[in-house]
Amino acid sequence: MAHRLAQISSHLNYPQGLLANQVAIITGAGQGIGAETAKLFANEGAKVVIADIDAGQANYALAKAGVVGLTRTIAKEWGPAFGVRSNTIAFGHVQTRLTAAKEKGAFITTPDGTKVALGIPGKQLESRQGGVGEQKQTYPDIPLGRPASPEEAAKSVLAVASPLFSYVTGETIRVTGGRNM
Ligand SMILES: NC(=O)c1ccc[n+]([C@@H]2O[C@H](COP(=O)([O-])OP(=O)(O)OC[C@H]3O[C@@H](n4cnc5c(N)ncnc54)[C@H](O)[C@@H]3O)[C@@H](O)[C@H]2O)c1
Repeated sequence: MAHRLAQISSHLNYPQGLLANQVAIITGAGQGIGAETAKLFANEGAKVVIADIDAGQANYALAKAGVVGLTRTIAKEWGPAFGVRSNTIAFGHVQTRLTAAKEKGAFITTPDGTKVALGIPGKQLESRQGGVGEQKQTYPDIPLGRPASPEEAAKSVLAVASPLFSYVTGETIRVTGGRNM
């Protein structure tokens, strides 16, 4: 049996996993997309360092815009200097506490003790889902007709980080089920 397994694995392209001998630092790995990414990366042979702090969202928009520019700059400057690839992923609707109904009560506490509710107001979520009754059409603005699971979202991170994307750098890859094309 062990001999047969060794025989089979010698035919695989990545017998030790897609990320063997790599170190991955995954921030926000406490839950949601980050947690699924950490699990997938570990499963593919990476040594995974996880970090999580339940922080506030005041800098959200600024940070998101900044990441796109930072991605390109790192690709341009660190590509030639260090052979580094740099990409970012722009998600659409992924099912985590951020996209659950606000009425479910998830919140974060900012350093000054203020509680900030997370999620989308139930009514808004309902209309995103396509309303109710005979008019109901599931997620009409998403061509794939559904949100992504956190694991699906994490798989796209694995794909981009893997050797399968070895010639892709400086890109912002949209993982949206086709939303906002
Ligand atoms: N869920 C979606 O539909 C969606 C859509 C677009 C973008 N995103 C982005 O994807 C990322 C993950 O989202 P999610 O839905 O999994 O969220 P989530 O709230 O389920 O998980 C985020 C995790 O990050 C941690 N965190 C927050 N600030 C941190 C910091 N400064 N350092 C370390 N950890 C920190 C939180 O404690 C939490 O555990 C976020 O950047 C989010 O903006 C999500």
